[in-house]
Amino acid sequence: MKQFERYLVTSALPYANGPLHLGHLAGAYLSADIFVRFQRLMGKDIVYICGSDENGAAITMRSLKEGLPPQEIVDKYDKLFREVFKGIGISFDYYHRTSDPLHHETAQEFFQNLYDKGEFVEKESEQYYDETAKMFLADRYILGTCPNCSHEEAYGDQCENCGSDLSPTELINPISTLSKEKPVLKKTKHWYLPLDKYEDWLREWIQTGKVGEEQLHYPEDWKNHVLGQCRSWLDGGLQARSMTRDLDWGVDVPQSIEGAEGKKLYVWMDAPIGYVSSTKAWAAENGKDWELYWKDEKSALIHFIGKDNIVFHCLIFPAILKAHGEYVLPVNVPANQFLNLEGKKLSTSKNWAVWVHDYLKDFPGKEDELRYALIKNMPELKDSEFTWKGYQDANNNELVNNLANFINRVVVLVNKYYEGVIPDYDEALMITAAENEDDMGYHESEMLLLYDNLDAMCSALRRYDFRSALKKIMDISSLGNQLLQFNAPWKMIKEDEDTVKVVMNLSMQYVTALSIALRPFLPFTSDKLRDLLNLERVTEKGELLDIMDDLAEGKNIIQIGHKINEPVHLFSRIEDDIIQDQRNKLIAGAMETIETEESNIKPTIAFEDFSKMDIRTATILEAEKVEKADKLLKLQVDLGFEKRTVVSGIAQFYNPQDIIGQEVLILANLAPRKIRGVESKGMILMAEDKDGKLSFVSPAKGWANGFSVS
Ligand code: 2FM
Ligand code: ZN
Repeated sequence: MKQFERYLVTSALPYANGPLHLGHLAGAYLSADIFVRFQRLMGKDIVYICGSDENGAAITMRSLKEGLPPQEIVDKYDKLFREVFKGIGISFDYYHRTSDPLHHETAQEFFQNLYDKGEFVEKESEQYYDETAKMFLADRYILGTCPNCSHEEAYGDQCENCGSDLSPTELINPISTLSKEKPVLKKTKHWYLPLDKYEDWLREWIQTGKVGEEQLHYPEDWKNHVLGQCRSWLDGGLQARSMTRDLDWGVDVPQSIEGAEGKKLYVWMDAPIGYVSSTKAWAAENGKDWELYWKDEKSALIHFIGKDNIVFHCLIFPAILKAHGEYVLPVNVPANQFLNLEGKKLSTSKNWAVWVHDYLKDFPGKEDELRYALIKNMPELKDSEFTWKGYQDANNNELVNNLANFINRVVVLVNKYYEGVIPDYDEALMITAAENEDDMGYHESEMLLLYDNLDAMCSALRRYDFRSALKKIMDISSLGNQLLQFNAPWKMIKEDEDTVKVVMNLSMQYVTALSIALRPFLPFTSDKLRDLLNLERVTEKGELLDIMDDLAEGKNIIQIGHKINEPVHLFSRIEDDIIQDQRNKLIAGAMETIETEESNIKPTIAFEDFSKMDIRTATILEAEKVEKADKLLKLQVDLGFEKRTVVSGIAQFYNPQDIIGQEVLILANLAPRKIRGVESKGMILMAEDKDGKLSFVSPAKGWANGFSVS
C-alpha cells in the first residue's frame, strides 16, 4: 500500500445560490470533516479545503429570481455558508470563493495552459439564442421536453426526471426560461475538451488504479457505486464537452486568446480549480507551499462529494489535471449517495428540506445531536433517510441513555467517592482468571478491550465507513455501562472499597478515551467533556495516536491524582412536542411553496394555440416495460379509428398488467418521436401532484374511443 506524506481533502464547493440543507451536510461535508479530524488526531499532515461556487448559470438564474445583482447573491449566500459551516462544526482549514481574483487568475492559468498545449478543440456550432433577452441560452436557461422520458421541464444540461445528461439542442419544444419564447439557433464558437481522446487512460486509471506502470490508487478502496457510475459513463462513450459559455458572469476566457471576448469558462471547468485556488490562499496565509499538496506524488488528494458530482470529479477534472501535466490525480472520491427526508426526495424548489441555519436557530447547543443523527444514517453506500422521529430516537436512546448516562455516572461517582480525584488502585486485586501468574488483571484486560475497539474505529474511518466508526464509539460507551452495571460500585463500595477503586479508575480511562475518540463525530461534546475532565481541549494534533500508543504500552491515559470537575449534562431528552413542531414546520413550508407555485400559472395563450391540440378519448389495450428504462411503459392504445404505440413515463406509478382497459385522454397530433428506440405517436395526458405522482385523466367510464376533447 502506498504511504502518503500528506493529504489534501476537498468538499464540493456549494453553489452560492441558496441555503444549505441536511442533504448537503450528509453528502459532502460531514464525511470529509470526520475524516480530516480523524487524520489530524492521528498526527497526519492534512489540509481541508472548500469555498463557495459563485460562477455560472446557477448564480445568474438565482439573481434573476431574487431580483438582485449576481454579486449580491453570492455575497449573501457565501456569508450564510460560512456561518452555517462554523455553526455545525465543519473544520475547513480554508474556505475560499470563486469570485476571488486569485481564483480567476488560477482558473485562467489552467485554461491557458491547456489551450497552449493544444488540448482544446475549437468548434463553431449552432446554439439556442433568445432574441428578446439577447443572449445564448446555456444549460439551465433553456427548458424543454426530455427526449428520453418525455418530462416536459428538462433543463438544457440535464433531465432531473430521468437523470440523463442532455445538450440544449436535444430538447423537444425548447423554450427560453428568460422570455418564455422559442429560441432561435445561432452560430457561436467554443472550446471543447475532447474527453473521447482521454477515454483509454481514464478507463485504465479507474479500473486498475494505474496510469502506465504507476499505481496511483487502489480500486478496491473505492466505493462500488462510484466505480459503477464511472464505468457506465465510460461504456456510454465520452463526448467532447464545451469548456466555455456565452455568459456575462464568471471567469473570463483569457483575453489573449483569439475570439475570447464575451466568453466565460464553463462553471465545471473553473469550480474544481477552486480547490487549487483555495489551497493557494491557505498556503499564502499560513506560510506553506501549496504546490507540495497538489504536485508531489506523496500527496493524497481526496474529494468528498455527492453522487451527482461523480462524473466531474472522477473523469472530467482528472482529465483536466492530467492534461495540465503537473498535478496529482485523486487517490479516492468517496462520494455519498442521497439523503431523503421524511419519505421523500429532498428538494430545494419544493421547499422539502430542513435548512441547517434554521436548525441551528431552533436547537442552539444541539449541534452534535444533528451530526450524530446524520452520521448514523449517512448515505455512504445507498440512499438513506432523515426523519425527525429517527433524530429523536437517536438522541434519547443513544446519546442520552447510553453515552451521557455512562459519562455522568462515572463523573458523579468519582466526585462522590474521591472528591473528583482519580483513584490509585491495586491491579492484583482483580485477576480475571487466577490460574497462572501471567494472567492479566481486570484493569489491564479491559484496557486492552478499549484499545481493540479504538483500533477497529480507526480502521473503519480509514475505509470511509463512518457509520461503523460511530457505532464503535457507542460500543465503547456500552462497554463502560456494562462495566458499571456488572460491578455495581454503588453496592460494592460498602464492602470492598479497593475493588471499587479499580473499577472507577478504569471507567475514567474509558471516559478519557471517549473525550478524544468521539471528536471527529461530536466535536462540541469533546470540548464539553474535556472541560468536565479538567483536561486541555483537544487541538487535533496527534492526540488519538498518543493515547493509542499509551494504551498499547499498558499505560493509563488519565493520571492517578488528577482532579476532575463537577458533573454537567452532556445531552438531554428531546420531547415529542419539539419533534412535532419540526414536522409541522416542514409541511407548512412545503405547502406555502406549492401555493405560490400553483398561482404561478404559465403565460396566457391564444384560443388558436389551444385549438391546435387534438385530444382524443382512447383505451389502453396492451402495456409493457421498455427495456433499460425504469420510468417508461410502451402502450398500445385504441383510438377507435386506429391503434397506436405510445411511450409514456408512468412505469413508476402503474404496473403494466393493471392498466389494460384503462380509459385515457391522448394528445393525438403530437409529432411522432423515437424514445429509447420505440416510435411514440402521441402523449397520454396525466395529472401530476405536488410529489410528482402521476394519475390518468380519464373521460367518464364507458365513453367510446376516438372522440375529441375540447
Ligand atoms: O453541485 C454543486 O453544488 C457544485 N457547485 C459542486 C462543485 S464541486 C467543485 F468542483 F467545485
Ligand atoms: Zn428525462
